[in-house]
Parts: sequence; structure tokens; C-alpha cells
Amino acid sequence: MAIADLGAVLRGAPKVELHIHIEGSLEPEMTFALARRNGITLPYADVAALRAAQQFTDLQSFLDLYYACTAVLRTAEDFQDLMLAYLARAAADGVVRAEIFFDPQVHAERGVAMATVIGGLTAGLREGQRQHGVEGALILCFLRHLSEAEAEQTLQQALPFLDQIAGFGLDSGEAGNPPGKFSRVFAACRALGKPVVAHAGEEGPAAYVRDAIDVLGVQRIDHGIRAIEDPALVQRLAALQMPLTVCPLSNQRLQVSPDLREHPLPQLLAAGVCVTVNSDDPAYFGGYLNANIAAVQAATPLTAHQWLTIISNSFQASLRDDAWKAAWQARLAAHFAEGGMLPAEARSR
Ligand code: ADE
Ligand code: ZN
Repeated sequence: MAIADLGAVLRGAPKVELHIHIEGSLEPEMTFALARRNGITLPYADVAALRAAQQFTDLQSFLDLYYACTAVLRTAEDFQDLMLAYLARAAADGVVRAEIFFDPQVHAERGVAMATVIGGLTAGLREGQRQHGVEGALILCFLRHLSEAEAEQTLQQALPFLDQIAGFGLDSGEAGNPPGKFSRVFAACRALGKPVVAHAGEEGPAAYVRDAIDVLGVQRIDHGIRAIEDPALVQRLAALQMPLTVCPLSNQRLQVSPDLREHPLPQLLAAGVCVTVNSDDPAYFGGYLNANIAAVQAATPLTAHQWLTIISNSFQASLRDDAWKAAWQARLAAHFAEGGMLPAEARSR
């Protein structure tokens, strides 16, 4: 690279995606293709009409459309195709590993069995690894607007598939559904030896971030940006090196942080919090991982060194072993150096 170009270095950098809902990667084109395949009539005339409906005032207005579109996912083949399409896009963005949420309770409501969902998704993961070289892992999310008893029933249904589940999470409408509502089922997941994560501090208050750590025993917080409202909590997140899986375009489109120039990511980074950048529901929010990085960079330009930290954090925060993390972090640093983006302290040596 003759002239150092940070944008090109960022696009080509190896990365881990830690916050992607596979149902949120269902593009309008695929929604219509699967509707046709499964004989389902959608309440939208065409792809353009569905895209035009992607105007959100808050998290719930998005969830209403997101859950409605999952109606087209019926067979294992549907889930496999969805996964493979996501992994192709992830690979194009430099993603080498993705830890991928899925919402089995949404599918169970329509009579789609856990075996169908997990069977299709894992077949997609295998094919994605073969075709695109991206490794993937599944995180089963409980829906927090439903009861803990329903989450416990879902966990029972998941037990035969534990080998294919890397961890458990918590998503859906946050306001009024505090982490403490799921303390027993999360304890059960931890007792099974599985890591747990939770959405917290997206629309909900900073106290939910605290509770996700203290009550649920999470090892990562999804979103977590409202922690910025509690300086003592920010300090604690930094001291714990508790990762936050931040999703800038999601925050913008769901009006959590409508102006990215005021997004708390740079402040959290400056405070020493282990922040990462991710895509959440890219088919609904205007872009995949590299689009999120580009949107941050356009709104609040960060230095190469800051980006090296953020992307390195994505490896650090992954559910992989230390040797794997260290090997990729070294490759990542080499990629920055080869692009003329060596950190200043290394360049002056
Ligand atoms: N499910 C899919 N996307 C979500 C988000 N951003 N917050 C909570 N639940 C979700
Ligand atoms: Zn999410």
C-alpha cells in the first residue's frame, strides 16, 4: 500500500463479530424468496415496500417487523441458507469468527422445532466454514419479554443439542424486563458449563448492566452503552475488562443514539472499557460489520491505534482460547503495520 489508507486497512483487517442475530441478517430479498418457496403471503407488495417499512422509532417498533419477517423461516434448509448468506457477507468484511445469536422461541411459536432450527444453522456453519473459511458458533438467546418458566422450557428443549451451543444470551424488549427475571435459568446455563451473555443498557438503564454482571454472571454485555450514564459503572467495566458488544448503526436506527457524533463509543474507549463494534441486525439497520466501522469513522474519526484496540478487543472478548486469541491479535497488528498503520510507539523504535 503506497499511501497509508486507514479505511482500506480497516476493511481488510481480520475481525470477530460478537453481536449478530441470525434472524437480523434476513435481507428483504431473501424474505421474499423464502416466502415464495414456503407458500407464504407477506403483507408487503415487494422488496421495496418491505425496505420502506424499516423505519424505526424505538426497539419495539423494530422487533415487531423483525419477528413478523421470521414467519418465512420454516425448514432446516431455510435456516441453512440464511446462515450461509450471512457468513458470505461476514467473510467479505474480514470476519474470521462469528458468535451468532438465534431466537428459538420465536420459531417454536410457529411450530418450528429446536432440531430444525439448530440442524439448519449448524449445516450452514459447516458450509460457511468450507466455502468462506469463517468459523462460527451459536448462542441461544432467551426472549426477555416472555417468562422465566418459558426460558427454562426452552433450555430443556436445547439439552440434546448442547454440543452445538457455545453459550446462552438474553434479548428482545428490554424496558421492564430486568436481568433478575432470568436469574435461575442463567444459573442453570452456567451450571451446564456454558458461558452466558445478555443484552443490557441498550434501551434499559445502566442498572441493568450492573445486574447482568452481578445477578446473571455474564462474561460479556451486549450493547451496554447506557453504562455511560453511571461513571462508577464505567470504571468498574474497565477494571473488570468486561467486554461491551457495541452496535452503532443499530443504536442510530433505533433512536438509542440518533446522532453518531454523540455516540458514547469513543468515551467508553477512552475510559479503558473493552469495547467492540458489531452489526446486530444488519439487514434492518443499513449494513454489516464494515459498514458499522465506516459509520463510526465518518461520525467520530478514531486513530489507527484506537481501531487496533477495538478490533483486538473483538478477539479478546470471543469465546475462544488464549492461544487462538494471541495468534490472531499478532496477525491483526501485522496487518496494520503492513498497511502503514503501525502504532506510533512501534514506528519510532
Ligand atoms: N433482537 C434482535 N435485535 C435486538 C436488539 N437490538 N435488542 C434486543 N433484542 C434484539
Ligand atoms: Zn442485539
